[in-house]
Amino acid sequence: MTKVAVWCRHKGDDVIGAGSRIPWNVPSDKALFAALVKNQNVVMGRRTYESLPGRTLPDSQILVLTSDYKYKVSDKDNHTVVENIRDFSEFEEDLYIAGGAKVYEAFMCGGSKLMPDIVVDCIYMGELNPEATGEKVSIASCIDVLRRKYFKAAETDAVDNVVRAVYIKRGDFVDQAVLKSILNIVEKK
Ligand SMILES: NC(=O)c1ccc[n+]([C@@H]2O[C@H](COP(=O)([O-])OP(=O)(O)OC[C@H]3O[C@@H](n4cnc5c(N)ncnc54)[C@H](OP(=O)(O)O)[C@@H]3O)[C@@H](O)[C@H]2O)c1
Repeated sequence: MTKVAVWCRHKGDDVIGAGSRIPWNVPSDKALFAALVKNQNVVMGRRTYESLPGRTLPDSQILVLTSDYKYKVSDKDNHTVVENIRDFSEFEEDLYIAGGAKVYEAFMCGGSKLMPDIVVDCIYMGELNPEATGEKVSIASCIDVLRRKYFKAAETDAVDNVVRAVYIKRGDFVDQAVLKSILNIVEKK
């Protein structure tokens, strides 16, 4: 099993959201995310799940983290409620970690058994959307861990104002087939 975290953060302040929204609109970045998680198991926090249009992600299985065991998902066949994040330490299939900040922090800062093997770190270089006025959500603590415990395997030039980098956790074996497939998607213009 390979755990892969995927995020897009704002350059400088590591903001990933404002209220329930992502405060920029970059279609190529959305397309990158969709390509990476296609036919994969995707874990996300309850707030991010509720921010998805239609509470769905076509072609992916969604694992919704919530402390509410009675939580109702929109698609019982393809979405599952998970209450205990520790269950993911023994997960057998590849797992894509898709936010938000609470979930990234739980995986990145929650001990080595949970830490992603690979991080796709997208950095948005433009301005934040001034209409996204909700409270800013930052992943600065995750970036601190990223800098200390991972090394950069690849970085692209900016595509639509977004630089994409792929990091690998130091000292661990990484499934080369998974890494190669991620690099192919990330480096595609
Ligand atoms: N730019 C990006 O790449 C990106 C990606 C994803 C999301 N976002 C943004 O991030 C923001 C949302 O992030 P957020 O941190 O506020 O919320 P979140 O991480 O999406 O969801 C938080 C909720 O998830 C559940 N949860 C989290 N950790 C848990 C654990 N260890 N055990 C059980 N349940 C757990 C809890 O749900 P309950 O309260 O139901 O218990 C918690 O309230 C939005 O602005 C969104 O647009 C940005």
